Amino acid sequence: MSHRTPLTVAVVGATGVVGRTMIQVLAERAFPVGELRLLASGRSAGRMVPVGDRTIEVGEATPEAFAGVDIALFSAGADISLALAPEAAARGATVIDNSNAWRMDPSVPLVVSQVNGDDLAWHEGIIANPNCSTMQLAPVLMAIRDSVGIDRVVVDTYQSVSGTGADAIAELEGQIRAHVAGEPKIASVYPHPIAFNALPEIDVFLDNGYTREEWKVVTECRKILHLPALRISCTAVRIPVFVSHSEAVHVETSEPLTADRARALIGAVPGVVIQDDPAGHEYPLAVNAAGHDEIYVGRVRQDPSIPDGRGLAFWVVSDNLRKGAATNAVEIAEVLVERGWVPAAARRAAPVEAPA
Ligand SMILES: NC(=O)c1ccc[n+]([C@@H]2O[C@H](COP(=O)([O-])OP(=O)(O)OC[C@H]3O[C@@H](n4cnc5c(N)ncnc54)[C@H](OP(=O)(O)O)[C@@H]3O)[C@@H](O)[C@H]2O)c1
Repeated sequence: MSHRTPLTVAVVGATGVVGRTMIQVLAERAFPVGELRLLASGRSAGRMVPVGDRTIEVGEATPEAFAGVDIALFSAGADISLALAPEAAARGATVIDNSNAWRMDPSVPLVVSQVNGDDLAWHEGIIANPNCSTMQLAPVLMAIRDSVGIDRVVVDTYQSVSGTGADAIAELEGQIRAHVAGEPKIASVYPHPIAFNALPEIDVFLDNGYTREEWKVVTECRKILHLPALRISCTAVRIPVFVSHSEAVHVETSEPLTADRARALIGAVPGVVIQDDPAGHEYPLAVNAAGHDEIYVGRVRQDPSIPDGRGLAFWVVSDNLRKGAATNAVEIAEVLVERGWVPAAARRAAPVEAPA
């Protein structure tokens, strides 16, 4: 199969925020799509979705809908992925899954394109796309890991409502309007009003006191960076921003690292851009990152609370719908095509089964 052989690509969750971004990113990057199959729940079946200068009818995501699909981009939640990703893979599709259903399965590669693309070599039909907060952090940590080593990471996130999906975007808009009109702010997606607020609760609470979102950052960073014992802690906070997640990161390095050298190392990572001119009030901003594929890093400085010049602090911002979800998924698909790893059926050792 040549690099440009048109492929049949399915987008599962095509009516959602991430699914729609995937359709857009596939077109922008001129991914070799022959047939584009848009799938969602039965509620959306029959709906016409504009794609470029045409419209495509949405079909219901069923096992049979994956017949003949080469690449299936899933973003319809973990339950759908658990049920349908093995069905798609069994029919010969290579699944790139955006949910948390498969990320920590040892037989499933969890890949950030510019960090561990080589892990795609051992996929057996399902590949996991990391959580958006992990995604924008891993390439930056990779630069530090590869130069001076990492002893410990503390990351605090400031995450946009689009990370929750279409309903949360509508909820923030509705609460802003209600505030201006002097009406009560009704919360249904989140446990408290998100407008003019900051909620230190993303996903469910675990027995260890962390939220699952925070724990995803911990476990996914370890897997992607091949640092199973990495000391890392996270506090994840939802804020009233529509698109882009921001992160305040503190790293204790193994060897000393100056801010200047850190900027050079981090800025050399593909897809990472340094924006760091405090005197000119220039640093990464959520609204500026929105709509772009890059990861922006600024406020790079030494952290004097760590001795011997081994402390580094910085600020990372990226569009959670693009690099945090859709763009990385399409980049993974591009690597598969370039390396001739589509279709998966030819490479699979054993049928993929859902975890118990
Ligand atoms: N938003 C982010 O930044 C982000 C980042 C990384 C990963 N993700 C993950 O991506 C997934 C989707 O997120 P989103 O933000 O796009 O959510 P969303 O806007 O709420 O969209 C959800 C999508 O899932 C579809 N869906 C729901 N139930 C279904 C079913 N039974 N069968 C088939 N499709 C079904 C919906 O179709 P209908 O329109 O028919 O209901 C819709 O297309 C989630 O797993 C999320 O964790 C999101």
